[in-house]
Amino acid sequence: MVIHVALNQNGYDICFSHGILFRAGEILDLNRKVFIVTDTGVPPVYADTLLKQCAQGHVYTIPQGERSKSIFQFEALLSKMLELGFTRKDCVVAVGGGVVGDLAGFTAASYMRGVDFYNVPTTVLSQVDSSIGGKTAVNLNGIKNIVGAFYQPKAVLIDPDVLKTLPVRHISNGLAEALKMSLTSDGALFDLFEHGDVYENMDTVITRSIEIKKSVVEQDEKEQGLRKILNFGHTIGHAIESEEDLHGLYHGECVALGMLPMCGTQLRPRVKKALEKLSLPTEIEMDEAVIMQAMKHDKKSESSGIAVTTVNTPGAYVSSIMQPEELMDRLQCIIKR
Ligand SMILES: NC(=O)c1ccc[n+]([C@@H]2O[C@H](COP(=O)([O-])OP(=O)(O)OC[C@H]3O[C@@H](n4cnc5c(N)ncnc54)[C@H](O)[C@@H]3O)[C@@H](O)[C@H]2O)c1
Repeated sequence: MVIHVALNQNGYDICFSHGILFRAGEILDLNRKVFIVTDTGVPPVYADTLLKQCAQGHVYTIPQGERSKSIFQFEALLSKMLELGFTRKDCVVAVGGGVVGDLAGFTAASYMRGVDFYNVPTTVLSQVDSSIGGKTAVNLNGIKNIVGAFYQPKAVLIDPDVLKTLPVRHISNGLAEALKMSLTSDGALFDLFEHGDVYENMDTVITRSIEIKKSVVEQDEKEQGLRKILNFGHTIGHAIESEEDLHGLYHGECVALGMLPMCGTQLRPRVKKALEKLSLPTEIEMDEAVIMQAMKHDKKSESSGIAVTTVNTPGAYVSSIMQPEELMDRLQCIIKR
């Protein structure tokens, strides 16, 4: 299946197919120098499979984990490309999750003011979300994604077979983002989360999520408006995440917690059940005042209140400015007493 992302400039194809990794050379232009970026947690067989299809490939493996999304790693990648004599006509391929994709994408955007970038996402989160839309970034001074660029890939190759090696907690983590997209944009997909067998229908979940994200990105490439709906659950989620050293929660798990207060009271128990089915957290031992404080530092916080997206009916969202008192009140539903 090929899903085309139609942008004014720099449109590209997302190619979804079982085993497509083994046919990458038929789809991507690998007949040049290819800088393959992966991490130590990604089974090396995926990068090696790609390497075998390159004319002149080089695999660069970064340590797994969010800490690799750093200026230090960014510089290391650029230096290696320079050392290997990469030119503007060569390309970078990310083989990994969102960490590898964001870092390799930003490297591709910057090297010689931009070389071709291909993304081969290997986690659920990166297949349904981060590989689409061209956001690339590294973290700086503890602030996530604060340095980066909008830089669209030339193509995205999604092989769901690679998810067979992904730990189950990371599968659920990515599904939280898919569930988020169903709530704002696709009632039928939420129905699958609520009543169906998600794991038996992973292809449907992934492709439907891609369709939603693609449609949003096509209408708002650089997050001027509509794209903010992708941040549903993220205002509270990011606030919880900023305390992550204490709780060790993954991004999608924080988003799961962040979505619940933003659902209408009738919908909330249904979403809670859907999250529990995926073994995602629905409660946290954290002081609501701590979450509120962290939210005040968030970029979505405005002087008149906090910009939020809420959902009362699956598939339909409401954007509004919420007063801190109301937010505090809504937060109660996720605080473990
Ligand atoms: N660019 C965007 O639009 C966007 C959107 C959402 C999130 N993000 C970013 O994505 C990152 C999180 O991405 P993630 O959840 O994919 O985390 P990740 O990239 O850290 O991957 C999770 C773990 O899974 C391992 N792994 C990857 N593929 C595997 C496989 N097939 N089998 C076994 N192990 C595998 C990795 O080594 C890592 O340890 C964050 O940095 C976040 O900021 C970016």
